[in-house]
Amino acid sequence: MGKVLIVYASRSNETKSIGELIAEGVRISGHEADVKKTSEIKNEEDLKGYDGYAFGSATYHGEMITSMKQILFIAERAELKDKPGGAFGAYGWSGEAPGRIFETMENIYGMKMVSGPLMLKASWVEGGMQASQEYGKSITAMI
Ligand SMILES: Cc1cc2nc3c(=O)[nH]c(=O)nc-3n(C[C@H](O)[C@H](O)[C@H](O)COP(=O)(O)O)c2cc1C
Repeated sequence: MGKVLIVYASRSNETKSIGELIAEGVRISGHEADVKKTSEIKNEEDLKGYDGYAFGSATYHGEMITSMKQILFIAERAELKDKPGGAFGAYGWSGEAPGRIFETMENIYGMKMVSGPLMLKASWVEGGMQASQEYGKSITAMI
């Protein structure tokens, strides 16, 4: 059994809800999941010890939330190479954040990424719950 860490940055909790549904998918697959907000990650030690990762942020003014940018610098020192990974986020129209996070995980940390970022207008949009759970399952499929 593996353990997946899901870290999110969310202002009005849509991205948080998506992260929790990703965690459900992880657990349905028989693995463990921890869901943490960015403020709970203080240094690289807080990121170590997991078999897979999903980082998520909502998009505001074309960017990810600042606390997720800080996590991405911390994660550079967390030895994530070849670990399974995914990125997610709620958005309104342009949704830059999940793609930026995804690219960083792939290109900077050298993680083994799922097929693409998960972008949803909200967790409760039609198919959102299932898409989020499936995303969690696809991360565990690479553990
Ligand atoms: C002030 C403001 C700026 C926003 N800027 C963007 C944006 O540039 N692109 C986008 O896709 N969505 C934008 N949104 C929409 C949010 O990404 C969307 O409401 C999302 O569901 C918020 O997720 P959260 O609840 O996890 O914070 C903006 C929303 C607000 C209130």
